[in-house]
Amino acid sequence: MSLLFSKATLGSLELQNRVVMSPLTRNRADGNVPNELMAQYYAQRASVGLIITEGTSPSSSGLGYPRIPGVFSTEQVAGWTRVTEGVHARGAKIFMQLMHCGRVAHPLNLPAGARVLAPSAVVAAGEMYTDAEGMKSNAMPQAMTDADIKATVEEFAQGAKNAVAAGFDGIELHGANGYLLEQFIRPNSNQRTDRYGGSIENRARFVLEVADAAIKAIGADKVGMRLSPFGVFNDMPPYEAMEADYAYLARELNARGLVYLHLVDHSPMGAPPVPDAVKSMFRREFKGALILSGGYDAARAESDLAAGKCDLIAVGRPVLANPDLVERWKAGAALNAPDFSTFYTPGPKGYTDYPSLG
Ligand SMILES: Cc1cc2nc3c(=O)[nH]c(=O)nc-3n(C[C@H](O)[C@H](O)[C@H](O)COP(=O)(O)O)c2cc1C
Repeated sequence: MSLLFSKATLGSLELQNRVVMSPLTRNRADGNVPNELMAQYYAQRASVGLIITEGTSPSSSGLGYPRIPGVFSTEQVAGWTRVTEGVHARGAKIFMQLMHCGRVAHPLNLPAGARVLAPSAVVAAGEMYTDAEGMKSNAMPQAMTDADIKATVEEFAQGAKNAVAAGFDGIELHGANGYLLEQFIRPNSNQRTDRYGGSIENRARFVLEVADAAIKAIGADKVGMRLSPFGVFNDMPPYEAMEADYAYLARELNARGLVYLHLVDHSPMGAPPVPDAVKSMFRREFKGALILSGGYDAARAESDLAAGKCDLIAVGRPVLANPDLVERWKAGAALNAPDFSTFYTPGPKGYTDYPSLG
């Protein structure tokens, strides 16, 4: 009896299986608006139980990368509606990942009037691709004022409402991988001395305000969050109190009744592994659904589900390269290999042209 391919519940939703498509930024949204090509890509992959979209910005200032979608204009909501219709027609559920890039950004990627924002004016080491001028250093961000913080919380809440209006079953707040929410959590990027910086209670405040606002907007059973404890991506170095800080977050998010927490483990991509003790701490402290991700194949997914380590398994690169991953896993068939050179390039190549089994 396979757990992986059996039905599951997520809040009030029934999922057709326990395979989740991980959020994958693909940079096909010209003008930051979801299009027919994207609707086709997501519909192709809708034999999973739950799709989590690519990181999608709730505001113009959150669009740090080129050609990533937003969910703050009427046009964007209309584009996303085509995506959710196509996915629902094939039986999958779909959550939108709300991602504000914060300081992982370059002004050349932002529309006029948008600003590179972060908790503090501390630049993220590393480079950002721009269509106009190629690779550039990440920009120096502006430290957010109280008014910026209030406005950004409101943008997340409006983004959540817009996602539901576009037919989404819920949203995932991107609290992982060095983007704005994690920039508040981590002490290297958050050097504030006000009530949003210093102690973990203060560094978590913005994240919890965003969660509360999203819950108020659409309900706790439609709000999940992705976190990357021990993650180092986008200049997020390890620090002494990491484990205790994430235990605090696990408890606070549990108290709010979020529908799921989704943990990142980028060790299959060469990052340091997330200690097992941290994953089991989340399992203990958080009573909603737990999604684990990172380097899963069918056998490991089945074994972690059977061991009760989590409720659902998120899969990134194998779903990217195999629109029919669930069918292939069921059949024990060979998989297409992902083509890294087309991960972030415009157009259908390496996007909608991966073959399915005949
Ligand atoms: C092309 C690409 C784009 C990604 N974009 C996002 C993203 O938008 N949001 C996010 O939380 N993670 C993103 N990730 C990380 C994946 O969700 C996932 O955690 C990672 O690929 C490891 O899982 P896997 O081994 O199953 O691929 C991305 C990964 C890749 C390869």
